[in-house]
Amino acid sequence: MLKTTLLKATEAGGKILQQYFNGTFEVSSKSTLNDLVTEADKKSESAIINVIHETYPDHFILSEEVGEIRTASNIKWIIDPIDGTVNFANGIPICCVSIGVEKDGEVVLGAVYNPFMNELFVAEKGKGATLNDKPIHVSSKHNVEQSCLVTGFPYKWEDGLNDPLQVLQYVIREGIPVRRLGSAAIDLCWVACGRFDGFWEHHLQPWDAAAGYLMVEEAGGKITDFSGNKYSLYQKQILATNGHIHSGLQHLINGK
Ligand code: IPD
Repeated sequence: MLKTTLLKATEAGGKILQQYFNGTFEVSSKSTLNDLVTEADKKSESAIINVIHETYPDHFILSEEVGEIRTASNIKWIIDPIDGTVNFANGIPICCVSIGVEKDGEVVLGAVYNPFMNELFVAEKGKGATLNDKPIHVSSKHNVEQSCLVTGFPYKWEDGLNDPLQVLQYVIREGIPVRRLGSAAIDLCWVACGRFDGFWEHHLQPWDAAAGYLMVEEAGGKITDFSGNKYSLYQKQILATNGHIHSGLQHLINGK
């Protein structure tokens, strides 16, 4: 039942993305000039929340644009109505709807849908992860020096030890290829299906990572913070890999 609603909500959001993509829509700034929200983010968010509320009016919602709709429910829907908003606003088709479902504080279901590539990733706790209904697995590469990595950058940060620029330097000075797609949810899904061997980012929000986090775990990967501690959606650092290169990449991003 939860999964049916999740898929319905993801599809409803995806339809809005398709409807607005490359069209004319309102765009405004949030925390910084380039931290954008578009009319399509808001429309997608309403469509998703409406679908959830039709079946589960009392569930807790945490969504990028509206924030928290608090209830006493032990089920929390964590929604990014468009992950990759800057891409979306520029007509770059690397963006998606991302929804994770947390039960008693643990993510148990997740879906990430990029309608422009017709790719739907779904993960279910203990039951694996799929791309368009086919099981997916992380890559088997063991050597971090030969890996293909992806990262993302925050819109602002304090300069300091192992800040985003320093970490990027540590990695690219080794000559390791690093991509920046502009959607953390897609980055995580692409680790889950083996296109990338690892991903890190400094200042993610729970809605950027909720679904992708489960995707990586269920596809056999590993996720921690930069120190190797258990990952939580509610802290800022994420390091997600195929597992084999985890300690190698962890050392690298810590400048060791
Ligand atoms: C952004 C994307 C991007 C990441 C940013 C996020 P949004 O989410 O996931 O890849 O680098 O940190 O804010 O704003 O497009 O939903």
